[in-house]
Amino acid sequence: MSPTLFDRELIVVTGKGGVGKSALAATLGTLLAERKRVLVLEVDPRENVHQLFGAPPSDGEFVGVGPRLHLQNLKPGQVFDQLIREKLRIPQLVKRVLKSPIYQQFTGGAPGLEEMAVLGHALRALRGLSPKAPQVDVVVLDAPATGHGVSLLAAPLLVGEVIQHGPIGGMTREVADLVADAERTGIVVVTLAEEMPATEAIELRAMLDQRLGRRPDLLVVNRLYPPAAGSAEDDPAAKLWRRRRRLNEHELERLGRAWPEPRAELPLLPLERGEELIARLTADLRRELGLGAAP
Ligand SMILES: Nc1ncnc2c1ncn2[C@@H]1O[C@H](COP(=O)(O)OP(=O)(O)O)[C@@H](O)[C@H]1O
Ligand SMILES: [Mg+2]
Repeated sequence: MSPTLFDRELIVVTGKGGVGKSALAATLGTLLAERKRVLVLEVDPRENVHQLFGAPPSDGEFVGVGPRLHLQNLKPGQVFDQLIREKLRIPQLVKRVLKSPIYQQFTGGAPGLEEMAVLGHALRALRGLSPKAPQVDVVVLDAPATGHGVSLLAAPLLVGEVIQHGPIGGMTREVADLVADAERTGIVVVTLAEEMPATEAIELRAMLDQRLGRRPDLLVVNRLYPPAAGSAEDDPAAKLWRRRRRLNEHELERLGRAWPEPRAELPLLPLERGEELIARLTADLRRELGLGAAP
């Protein structure tokens, strides 16, 4: 497995909703934070990531959850508002701009702009430009669901065609450079070994290639049924379990044919969303990636 994934500045975790993107982002963040300063950035109006760390909700703020680990739930609008505040500085003026219908229409409607704002925020955190942000070496971005995953990465190209000047133009160019550079930005796709999510993951891989000329760095197949252990042949629960497991194996085979890049497999664990789940997944992912023990 490419240890280089761990040298990136930005790691985008993407996949269909509900497959475990947030869990994986928290897991990767935990692994990375053993050596680096990490921000796990969640872009979802329904906050989840804090629960995985047993922390209070972020509500847009940075929350420290470990010695080198922070999380933040980001509202995309936040980013441009911050830019306006920094550029204008005069509170009265800032208020008027933020309230003006033109500004609101602009930030709410232009295609790709919200996604750009998210990436711009990540870049600013890496550069230490966000006033309240902790200094970090890597941002793990828990991206919105699949289609959005590609549109997120394609956004700088889209926006860059339209806005070339001013603070947003400058930020757009820098973000485009960041996400186009495979040595700086990693892409991790999460899926389940079930028909729909696996098909979407395979489509996502094709779209990344078509639209961005990028290959994903890692496929994570989450929530795999472990082989059922020695239950009675006619026990209905055991039967169901074995059927699930066979389905998983069938989809793993299909993914194997469509996906030449590295793959990690994580088991379905009998645990609620929380710290214990992340601790277990971190240990499992460490083993899957062939990493050594924690420092
Ligand atoms: N390997 C796993 N074993 C058990 N539960 C898991 C595992 N991975 C994720 N979950 C649970 O599945 C649900 C969906 O995961 P989540 O990370 O929130 O998905 P997403 O962010 O893709 O919508 C959560 O309740 C989470 O705790
Ligand atoms: Mg999520």
